[in-house]
Amino acid sequence: MLSKGVVSLLTACLALVAGSTLGAATAGTHRRHLRLPRAGAVNQFPDGFMLGAATASYQIEGGWDADGKGENIWDRMFHEHPEYGTNGDNGDVACDSYHKYAEDVQALKNLNANVYRFSISWARILPNGDTDVINQAGLDYYNSLIDLLLENGIQPLVTMYHWDLPQSLQYIGGWPNPILADYFVEYARVLFENFGDRVKFWITFNEPAAVVSGYASVGRAAPSLPAPGIGDYLAAHTIIKAHARVYHLYQEQYKASQQGYVGITLNSAWNEPATNSTEDIEAAERARQFEVGIYAHPIFSEEGDYPPVMRQRVDANSAAEGRPRSRLPSFTSEEVAYIRGTSDFFGVNHYSSVLSTSGETGTIPSKEHDAGVISYSFDSYPQAASSWLQVIPWGFRKLLNWIAAEYPEYPIIVTENGYSDWGELDDKNRTDYYTSYLAEMLKAINTDGNNVIGYTAWSLLDNLEWTDGFAIKFGLYQVDFNDPERPRTAKDSVQTMAQIYASKELPIEYFE
Ligand SMILES: *[C@@H]1O[C@H](CO)[C@@H](O)[C@H](O)[C@H]1NC(C)=O
Ligand SMILES: *[C@@H]1O[C@H](CO)[C@@H](O)[C@H](O)[C@H]1NC(C)=O
Repeated sequence: MLSKGVVSLLTACLALVAGSTLGAATAGTHRRHLRLPRAGAVNQFPDGFMLGAATASYQIEGGWDADGKGENIWDRMFHEHPEYGTNGDNGDVACDSYHKYAEDVQALKNLNANVYRFSISWARILPNGDTDVINQAGLDYYNSLIDLLLENGIQPLVTMYHWDLPQSLQYIGGWPNPILADYFVEYARVLFENFGDRVKFWITFNEPAAVVSGYASVGRAAPSLPAPGIGDYLAAHTIIKAHARVYHLYQEQYKASQQGYVGITLNSAWNEPATNSTEDIEAAERARQFEVGIYAHPIFSEEGDYPPVMRQRVDANSAAEGRPRSRLPSFTSEEVAYIRGTSDFFGVNHYSSVLSTSGETGTIPSKEHDAGVISYSFDSYPQAASSWLQVIPWGFRKLLNWIAAEYPEYPIIVTENGYSDWGELDDKNRTDYYTSYLAEMLKAINTDGNNVIGYTAWSLLDNLEWTDGFAIKFGLYQVDFNDPERPRTAKDSVQTMAQIYASKELPIEYFE
């Protein structure tokens, strides 16, 4: 366990992770400094590996209007449409981490975590989304959390945007409006100015694919607007540009003094071809390009820009629909060059795998229809509480290998991975999930030679699983949502994970 005050341990960990970054100015070279040394054996984590847990502001904080916080699009959606959330659940109080963050840090300590991935609520810092009002109470909250983490030898890994857009920015259209990139840059500047002395790992966006789904459907994600195949692509376009601008802002104004890293987190299932037919193999690859490539190709590929298969299919479908323009916007060649290479690491959230085959699906227009891929569940793998989550550990290794082959040289941080159930304290299935997935990740590192540098389990706490409410549980720690004190209780999985995190190895039995 990392004991209180052992900041030198954190510094040592950081130094190993960070290497020598001085003088590494260009996007192409400095990411190589995040390469970890090879581990001694297949079941060991490399020296400097980050091991911890993850959460997100709206899912845990509560305090939805406390001390000057502004309204965000999830507050608005659930207040106007309680029926969108299972049992009418919302994030008004959630785990009350706004008041109980010290208990969260204690939970991380008991887990022997050396990293905590959390997100900052934009509207808690900038209630209007803009810098006309900077909410001191919001800055104080995150300063206290960050300081307490560091005192306990736990490194902050901070997500700037985990889906909770200030409502004031939705009034002007939200992410489909390109001006949102300007607002995001100014928000990021406030974060770098206030926290960048202590935060060395930044994630601009968590799961843009989920963010943009709020502009393509009703009742699933805020702001719940049904413009599929149009609004989601416009939102994606703004998000990619906003990410790149924040990356450049950091390089130009903060990197030299703060010495940190900026990346983005994309989510992906592993899409396995349903059969070995060329058609299915191509369908699975198309699914990956529409799911991950839409964001990763502009940022991480050598060529930049949207994946060619997306460009071609959306352009063709748009023309066939009689439209005068493609529904997928275009980057100028200057923008392609500006966006390419704007990440120090590849953050990935992964839970499960699906089978893919070619076929007509989705409404016209929609991203699903443009992709032309039908995905379905495997027959014979264990099912978690979430309908979309089956336990298929080998898919994790395949996904990590695909990312590393498709976007070579970028260090990978697994920013989410976890299992949902109905809340048992004896959560053997969760323990089995984590150990089997960690074993596959270690094979991807130690056997396949990929540079994965960190892992944050989803989630530290039971929390608001968005529209699934509090019924579905992902936590290592149980939270009693019927008790106003929201007590946290370690589940059995904490014991196994704490042992793995302390020893920096997975017992060899999990490889047999
Ligand atoms: C496809 O081929 C691979 C390699 O030969 C094999 O391992 C796999 O089981 C095959 N998949 C299907 C669905 O037949
Ligand atoms: C654990 O997983 C197995 C296999 O999917 C399932 O049958 C069982 O119900 C799960 N146990 C709990 C407590 O969820």
